[in-house]
Amino acid sequence: MREIGGYFPYIEEPDNKNHYLDGLCPPEGDLRFLMSGRCANYLALEDFKKQQPHPVAYVPLYTCETVIDPFVKAGYELIFYDFTKDMIPVFDESVLDKIHLISICGYYGFSGYDREFLKKCEERGICIIEDTTHSIFSADGIYEGCTYVVGSMRKWLGVSCGGFAIKKTGSFTPLILPPHEVHLNMRRQGLAVKTDAFRHPDTVAASVSEDASRLLWDAELLLRKVYDIHGSDSESVDIIEYYDFDALKRQRRENYRYMLEHCPKSDAYTIVFPYLDDATVPSHFTLYAADRGKFKEYLSQNGIHATSYWPVGPYINLEGHTDCAYIYDHVISIPCDQRYTAEDMAYICRVLKDF
Ligand SMILES: Cc1ncc(COP(=O)(O)O)c(C=O)c1O
Repeated sequence: MREIGGYFPYIEEPDNKNHYLDGLCPPEGDLRFLMSGRCANYLALEDFKKQQPHPVAYVPLYTCETVIDPFVKAGYELIFYDFTKDMIPVFDESVLDKIHLISICGYYGFSGYDREFLKKCEERGICIIEDTTHSIFSADGIYEGCTYVVGSMRKWLGVSCGGFAIKKTGSFTPLILPPHEVHLNMRRQGLAVKTDAFRHPDTVAASVSEDASRLLWDAELLLRKVYDIHGSDSESVDIIEYYDFDALKRQRRENYRYMLEHCPKSDAYTIVFPYLDDATVPSHFTLYAADRGKFKEYLSQNGIHATSYWPVGPYINLEGHTDCAYIYDHVISIPCDQRYTAEDMAYICRVLKDF
């Protein structure tokens, strides 16, 4: 059976640097590579605290625990903003007098946030930090007025450490620590097995691959406990600097377009972003499933490993936020990444048709 999804393998790198992230960093700015996305967020938040020691941040109610945790760890006071069912933030102008910083994110590559509101933030000197973990490859994935750009490549390719942080003007002041050796070694070991299994599926026993999945999950749990302003290892920086991002963008857009054109209509699910504009490079093909548990199980039985981003995190209170609660309860993402071709997307569509 075809297997779709799961951890990315390492791949052979091309000979030439892509100059992608350094191209996004202005000459007067600073680009740093971090162990993970949360380390990158934490670096930017600690950096901002040098100018605002008691910061109040406006943060998304629909997000990952790993996004909010650095704010809590850095001692920020939090005000949450709501969402429509289209994953568009609902910003409230009455907070403008209260906040020092706003965190924004283009979900799954689609950056639908209200730029007029962000202009108002800029006019008032409110710092904008954009988490580009999902939108880093979209042409409109970075709001031009933001102060910090942070993110993680771990969602896009096989890399042990994937965090990056850009300060558009000036240098980061906090000290950057070496990567956490135990976490890094777990990632390296786990991804090496996944790479073997991807390249030579017949030579890696299922039990060995399952052990590697467990090791990688343990690495995630460890990261939640130990993360700090940890830098990247040089091997991961090389992967990010040499990866063929043009091919990545092309393939993901092609796969997403294929899914939009061929995904069977059904009452069992709806497509969250039903149009692919020229700017967007999608991270996943994301749906709302009426009965997500059953749907996910069915996909899994057919070798399609879909993910639900994210469970409701510890600081999230959904009372009175029915649309946002709907997102958390129904969202499910199917892989459409550069490992796969139209043939794989056609397989996914056939499986969906029989649900
Ligand atoms: C939007 C967003 N930002 C940051 C992170 C954290 O990235 P990492 O897992 O590399 O720390 C995640 C992870 O899920 C994420 O989805």
